[in-house]
Amino acid sequence: MTKIKAIRIDTNGGPEVMALREVELGAPKPGEITVRAKAIGVNFIDTYHRSGLYPMALPSGIGMEASGIVEAVGEGVMQFKVGDSAAYASGPAGAYAEANNVAAASAVKVPDGVSHEQAAAMMLKGLTAQFLLRQTFRVEKGQTILWHAAAGGVGLIACQWAKHLGATVIGTTSSEEKAALARAHGCDHVIDYTKEDVAKRVLEITGGRKLPVVYDGVGKSTFIGSLDCLAPLGLLVSFGNASGPVTDVNLGILAQKGSLYVTRPTMYHYAAKSPTALQEMADDLFAVVKSGAVKIEVKQRYSLAEAARAHIDLEARKTVGASVLVP
Ligand SMILES: NC(=O)c1ccc[n+]([C@@H]2O[C@H](COP(=O)([O-])OP(=O)(O)OC[C@H]3O[C@@H](n4cnc5c(N)ncnc54)[C@H](OP(=O)(O)O)[C@@H]3O)[C@@H](O)[C@H]2O)c1
Repeated sequence: MTKIKAIRIDTNGGPEVMALREVELGAPKPGEITVRAKAIGVNFIDTYHRSGLYPMALPSGIGMEASGIVEAVGEGVMQFKVGDSAAYASGPAGAYAEANNVAAASAVKVPDGVSHEQAAAMMLKGLTAQFLLRQTFRVEKGQTILWHAAAGGVGLIACQWAKHLGATVIGTTSSEEKAALARAHGCDHVIDYTKEDVAKRVLEITGGRKLPVVYDGVGKSTFIGSLDCLAPLGLLVSFGNASGPVTDVNLGILAQKGSLYVTRPTMYHYAAKSPTALQEMADDLFAVVKSGAVKIEVKQRYSLAEAARAHIDLEARKTVGASVLVP
């Protein structure tokens, strides 16, 4: 048993339910490693776990992503040894901690040239960009795509990557400052979706053709508008709920708006497609990062004790790009 500081939640609620406590961390179980965190990723999913939108058994830790040093190795673990650099983006929630035990199968080695802060900023967000752009819908040169919340954590990575793939990238943001950042990270066109009619602008930008795919992590407030941006037989990839979940959809609307497709994917199903899927997705991500095509920058840093502040800022749309907690 080691004493560590960790954020715990006993009840669902606002950021104030997160408390920094001293807890005991046991030895890693068979198949697990103990990762001493150097940097911890903050993700919108953490706010859903905290609020109860995505229910989990309580009391619980919180946080899905961190990068650090392997401090102990459980029985049967062959791929890691003590002292290795490891990063993970998986449950059970508990990454907001000085150290955490995770399944070795859900961790990857941090390659040379990638810092712990970068790894913590890109595992969950970058693997999400990977499956969305390379698997859910394979973006190809010459296509035009729309990415909502383009200046967000997933957004900045995905827009750079989509541009690198040769797509024309349309992004949405809520301010001119965020629009400038989105432009600097791959967006050819940026629409302020708090002021402009997105479907109308998409029609203009595409000369009336509309889009084969829309990536929408905003959810409730953008869902119908996203459908209106799609060409017949187009695909809406609804991958998150930053503005609230999409519920009560009459499927007939998909016929009405052009025999459209909708998918609601999660990274975890893609990473579990095969025993090697996670590593293959990470290799693809690390390759575009190491080539310089996708730059990973930490835009906000907080201490572990400031986790509530990080959630307040993320939910208030005050952040851009990736946020990390530094224990
Ligand atoms: N399916 C998966 O496997 C998967 C994996 C990772 C992330 N995600 C999803 O991807 C999305 C982005 O995640 P992230 O961690 O990178 O967050 P993020 O994009 O950094 O933050 C969310 C952004 O959404 C926009 N937004 C629009 N309406 C909002 C509202 N009412 N409240 C708060 N934000 C609003 C804001 O940008 P503007 O100010 O520019 O509007 C905000 O910055 C989230 O929905 C997340 O759940 C899904």
